[in-house]
Amino acid sequence: MKPQEDKLKRIIGHAKEYGFVFPSSEIYDGLSATYDYGPYGVELKNNLRNYWWQAMVKLNENIVGLDAAIFMHPTTWKASGHVDAFNDPLIDNKDSKKRYRADVLIEDHIEKYRVKIEKDVAKGIKRFGDSFDEVQFRATNPNVLRNQAKIDEIEGQFKSLMEAEDLAGVKKLIEDLGIADPETGSKNWTDVRQFNLMFKTELGSVAGDSSDIYLRPETAQGIFVNFLNVQKSSRMKIPFGIAQTGKAFRNEIIARQFIFRMREFEQMEMQFFVKPGTELEWYEHWKSARIKWHEILGLGEENYRFHDHVKLAHYANAACDIEFNFPMGFKELEGIHSRTDFDLKSHEEFSGKKLQYFDPEDKENYVPYVVETSIGLDRLFLATLSAAFVDETLEDGSTRMVLRIPHALAPVKAAVMPLLKKDGLPEKAREIIDRLKIDFNCQYDEKDSIGKRYRRQDAIGTPYCITVDHDSLEDNMVTIRERDSMKQERVAIEDLPSIMNQKVSMAQLLQKL
Ligand code: GAP
Repeated sequence: MKPQEDKLKRIIGHAKEYGFVFPSSEIYDGLSATYDYGPYGVELKNNLRNYWWQAMVKLNENIVGLDAAIFMHPTTWKASGHVDAFNDPLIDNKDSKKRYRADVLIEDHIEKYRVKIEKDVAKGIKRFGDSFDEVQFRATNPNVLRNQAKIDEIEGQFKSLMEAEDLAGVKKLIEDLGIADPETGSKNWTDVRQFNLMFKTELGSVAGDSSDIYLRPETAQGIFVNFLNVQKSSRMKIPFGIAQTGKAFRNEIIARQFIFRMREFEQMEMQFFVKPGTELEWYEHWKSARIKWHEILGLGEENYRFHDHVKLAHYANAACDIEFNFPMGFKELEGIHSRTDFDLKSHEEFSGKKLQYFDPEDKENYVPYVVETSIGLDRLFLATLSAAFVDETLEDGSTRMVLRIPHALAPVKAAVMPLLKKDGLPEKAREIIDRLKIDFNCQYDEKDSIGKRYRRQDAIGTPYCITVDHDSLEDNMVTIRERDSMKQERVAIEDLPSIMNQKVSMAQLLQKL
């Protein structure tokens, strides 16, 4: 097993054992690509959602929130293009009977050339140290140029084939590139077919009185159809944004890799409405704002990169992904799309209602353009868990497993522990919890040795352990131990709220934005 696969397996095991993520309906052997979040998982997920929501809605005067229904009028999905164009190109391997997305097979093939380039760059850095000119090397090194040319050629071919809807050509490209089934090595492929990803169900309980409706495949359309309701009721002036978080559903073909690709997942989307012609400036603005948001989160700046889309979606005039270095390599975490006026115009056409903005400065009506930022909460959760998951060898040679979750996002912020279960220590510990619990999620823990309790808290990512001992009863001081450095300090009980506020509050993250 490759080390990355091994890491993902260990994360999945850890997530289950410690109550972060369980397979859905597990007593019935689970349902593929659906997961339930356990007690610590739901806390982490809420904190991640909160960080996003506050950064969007609280910190930006010109962004407001919305919570639209999952079910929408079926014509919504005609207008958005999802009924006709929300397809994935599928290919089956005849020997293994495994099904793949043709575009993913090709992207994974391209990734091999990218890895070669990065290896050459890393060699250069190692050999020449500070005097290494990376920009110059990338622009002139023959190996790098050859691999980059190969990437450009394959991307170009794939883009043209998809634009021409030439699925036979896509199959030929896969064969010509010698792409094999990643699991078995077989190159015996079926034809490529398109497969619609929306889940369909019926509205109405009386036979013959029903109509097909869909589970929304993205939250964005709830924002578009409410554009005027929100703009008028909140008296918003362009440029302004509408933010929403909520469940989305896609009948994904390849649903492996844990919570990376699910059939039911949560999105956090923000549609930013701008004056036509200014959209590409705003697109750049949101690219920088979003990468900054990620970097401040604290999962390691080296774990992010941008990937510009080769094949633009039917609605976009510019688009990129923010990719994260997951255990299975760099993959899409967030999408930033300049969606033009496609959606609003199309809803105008299909509904017969105007979705225009009167610009009080220019005294004109127009359909705004839209720049969208769209991130999957579950993917963000996986990114956080995988960056946080660390096996550490300590100075004395022993090992510990620690989840270095950024402090403000940790499910439990402090564990309060009486050294012994007697002599009034538990009561003192409870007093401390009562003081802290209004602002911070705390846990009381009195079982086992202090060492074992520390390890248990490390494994769920609790940043602080507060130990109450006999001296605490006399001097009102406690020992506070920090998760990552394992440093211990004696502090006054009355200072705990302000210490915690400085170290673990969401405000600490938001202030850096
Ligand atoms: N409204 C635009 C839109 O939905 P997308 O790139 O299809 O764009 C946005 O999806 C984000 O939603 C992705 O970057 C990813 O984080 C998340 N996402 C998409 N499909 C997902 C799935 N099957 N499971 C988990 N997250 C998913």
